[in-house]
Amino acid sequence: MTTSLARTSWSPASWRDYPALQQPRYGDEAALQATFENLKQLPPLVTSWEVEGLKRQLAEAAQGKQFLLQGGDCAESFADCTSGTITNKLKILLQMSLVLVHGSRRPVIRVGRFAGQYAKPRSSDMEIQAGSELPSYRGDLINRLPFTEEDREPDPELLLRGYERAALTLNFIRSLVDGGFADLHHPEYWDLAFMEHSPHRLDYQRMVESIGESLRFMETLAGRRVGSMERVDFYTSHEGLHLLYEQAQTRRVPHRPGWYNLSTHFPWIGKRTAAPDGAHVEYFRGLRNPVGVKVGSATTSDELRSLLDLLHPEDEPGRLTLIHRFGVDEVAAELPRLIDVVRESGKTVLWCCDPMHGNTQTTRSGLKTRDFQDILRELELAFETHERLGSILGGVHFELTGEDVTECVGGARGLGEEDLGRSYRSLVDPRLNYEQALEMAMLIARRMGRQRRDGSTE
Ligand code: PEP
Ligand code: CO
Repeated sequence: MTTSLARTSWSPASWRDYPALQQPRYGDEAALQATFENLKQLPPLVTSWEVEGLKRQLAEAAQGKQFLLQGGDCAESFADCTSGTITNKLKILLQMSLVLVHGSRRPVIRVGRFAGQYAKPRSSDMEIQAGSELPSYRGDLINRLPFTEEDREPDPELLLRGYERAALTLNFIRSLVDGGFADLHHPEYWDLAFMEHSPHRLDYQRMVESIGESLRFMETLAGRRVGSMERVDFYTSHEGLHLLYEQAQTRRVPHRPGWYNLSTHFPWIGKRTAAPDGAHVEYFRGLRNPVGVKVGSATTSDELRSLLDLLHPEDEPGRLTLIHRFGVDEVAAELPRLIDVVRESGKTVLWCCDPMHGNTQTTRSGLKTRDFQDILRELELAFETHERLGSILGGVHFELTGEDVTECVGGARGLGEEDLGRSYRSLVDPRLNYEQALEMAMLIARRMGRQRRDGSTE
């Protein structure tokens, strides 16, 4: 096993010489190998020119000229690969992005946590229920949720099923985006009933009216619909957790040097697998894709320095996004340390705030939830801290869904713990529902608008 940080040559398989955390143990090695060979032959899901296009946009976001909106399920499920769920997810992300464009007056880069977000890290390899112990559920790419021996056995076939579901999802998203979303251009058709319950109702109403007016104004100028004036770009991302699956999608392309992971535009490394001397960092360092890495209070300054050396050696614009996830109680105290490390390195990264993963709580009845107010407050503190230190918060990362679920508490309707049972559907972490997500976008947009006006010298 290679333990030193001094790296030599890289290949899509060089991660195998490093400790790989969070990998399933398959009983049938021959079946796994056959699936891997099969996956290697299948066509890619995305192209290198899309990947390079996203990298250029992320480079602009790092400089505050664009803004990244990344969001979607904690874990996608195969069962939710349906027309309605995908449409609703796209709809909420597009609506949030319009609201954010309005507030920030910057182009917004839309990146879904979808078309491949099927593998989950778990805090324990095994789960105990009623005295029996079975492997933990690791996402639909790996095993199945029901608590039986057969379902929990990692099944190589699921890698193919996941790849196919990702392709189906992406295919439908591309068609929807090409066709344009009729209701996107008419905020008066958005589902805005929640606004009635909010003390910010008038503010929200003005914002929505003004978005509608700007869209209509642009349409009048162009003499056609905004959707056909400019294609709405949509990118995909997922946690690159299952390294054999990711390796199978790692390809060379004609006329460009290097290797691309062509299963997604923007893979990220999760917090649990971000050790600089681990297999995930080794795998990611060789990719030409823009990559993200989750950082938080547990990330030491030395670790961050090593991550910058390994994942961002050339300071290539748009290459590295640091997705920080501290939790509302720690962000103000801990974020400055990481900002300083990056500043000392002289490199530019895109800073993105994930206000979800540091704010998870368990209710008295044992459900995982997050409070809308904690999520919002962590974001506000992140904006303030970056601003105060002369750094730029260039993006946000949410777990959300376009459905009317009840997983996070709070928001304009004031969901409480007692409401969570009504429609709790997440397989892993609690997501903002449609209304909570749109309201969150409105509150951030309002803040960005204020920041823009206060900062301007007009
Ligand atoms: C996630 O994004 O779903 C996740 C597991 O996050 P983290 O790696 O930050 O814990
Ligand atoms: Co999650």
